[in-house]
Amino acid sequence: MNPMILAASTQRTIGLLLAIVVMVGFLVYLLFSFRIGKRELGSEVELAANRKPYLDDDDLETFRLDRALVWSLVTLTAVSMILPVYWLMEPARQENAIVDWVNRFEKRGARNFEEACSSCHGPGGVGGVAAFTLVDAEGAFVAQVEWKAPALTTVLSRFDEAEVRHILDYGRPGTPMPAWGLPGGGPMTTQQVEQLIVYLRSVQLDQDDATAQIDAGIVAGARAVVTAADAELIEAADVEAAAEAWLARASDPTSADYLRYGELIFNNPAAQGANSCARCHTPGFSFGAADEDSTAALLETWPRLADSGILTGWQPAQGHVGPSLEGVETHFPTAARQEEFVRIGSEVGVGFGNARSGTGMMPGFGGRVDPDVVDYDTGGDATYSRILTPDQIAAVVAYERSR
Ligand code: HEC
Ligand code: HEC
Repeated sequence: MNPMILAASTQRTIGLLLAIVVMVGFLVYLLFSFRIGKRELGSEVELAANRKPYLDDDDLETFRLDRALVWSLVTLTAVSMILPVYWLMEPARQENAIVDWVNRFEKRGARNFEEACSSCHGPGGVGGVAAFTLVDAEGAFVAQVEWKAPALTTVLSRFDEAEVRHILDYGRPGTPMPAWGLPGGGPMTTQQVEQLIVYLRSVQLDQDDATAQIDAGIVAGARAVVTAADAELIEAADVEAAAEAWLARASDPTSADYLRYGELIFNNPAAQGANSCARCHTPGFSFGAADEDSTAALLETWPRLADSGILTGWQPAQGHVGPSLEGVETHFPTAARQEEFVRIGSEVGVGFGNARSGTGMMPGFGGRVDPDVVDYDTGGDATYSRILTPDQIAAVVAYERSR
């Protein structure tokens, strides 16, 4: 016989046996209660439990009464002590329940992240790459590229949770980031998306680590500047020192290299470009068009990039996810207002510059406090590291306005 059928019929046999045992048991029970009931008929006076004679008052009003009273006193004392303690502990109990749920969301989010996100964004969201096929307007093949998936370890510094939720729900069209939430046609429920966000809270870098990461990217840029300027600087130690010295000079607003310094911040390669501006404002930056030379090489490998109009050359700040920054100074008449915008980013429907309505896609780079999220270590609002200092923002804005 087919083993499946065998298994099914064994299950059925066991079920049948159980049913028979229950039926027989019930019949036996009926029989016994019927017989006991018969014995009592007519002799309730002797057999009924409430008809047995009990102790008289003289016996009862002695130690028995005292004992009952003492016990009532004990239980009353216990209750009157437990009630206030319960009342005192209730807020902590509720808080623990919330922390418990947050922890549970974080664990489930971590599991979802490993399954759905880490192949592109790296384990723990440290950044990675996504293989991506670029196609033209007709859907014809243009190029096969490696698209940088930014680290997510400072994402909550840049965006508030509603904005992150929007990115997760709808993805970022035209890039490898797919839609994950049901509203955007993805596979994840609202709750799973929420769990991912709670997980992301747990991987955000503190200020020291964030600063170290961003500085490393700027130093890498400075190293390229000094080696290009002086090919003799072959000793690694010399390069490092020269880069530091160049940065110290160039970050002074009166320096001739100040705009170059702002450009390095704009193009910061660290953490797969997570903290840069170029990945959203420079065409092709995320898939290899990082400067004049690399763009030329890319165009040579994939000639259809230029034909299709997807990437026609090195076009710094000419617009991709975000708009072209050409002529930005007509939109932000003063540098101070533009700096303020880069510090806080855009919010859906909130006006910025002279007359534009924010989409929530332009990140803020000046750090963020979230009044809706509790930091359970400090008990205060969750705070997220600043990405750029006010001086760095001023430098990057000066660079943008010089273009
Ligand atoms: C197929 C690769 C891929 C997968 C899988 C993927 N992402 Fe992305 N994601 C990207 C890329 C590439 C970008 C950057 C797009 C761009 O250039 O603007 C991105 C952008 C993002 C951003 C915006 C970051 C920012 O600072 O702009 C968030 C948030 C994000 N992804 C979260 C997730 C989460 C959470 C998951 C898992 C549910 C996930 N991603 C899965 C490739 C991927
Ligand atoms: C995740 C993508 C993204 C990154 C990264 C990004 N931007 Fe933007 N940016 C945008 C989008 C989208 C807009 C359009 C405004 C909005 O969000 O509604 C914008 C708008 C702007 C504007 C206003 C342009 C105008 O004419 O209205 C400026 C200035 C700007 N960004 C500067 C920067 C700087 C400086 C950085 C880096 C420190 C940066 N952006 C990084 C997406 C990005």
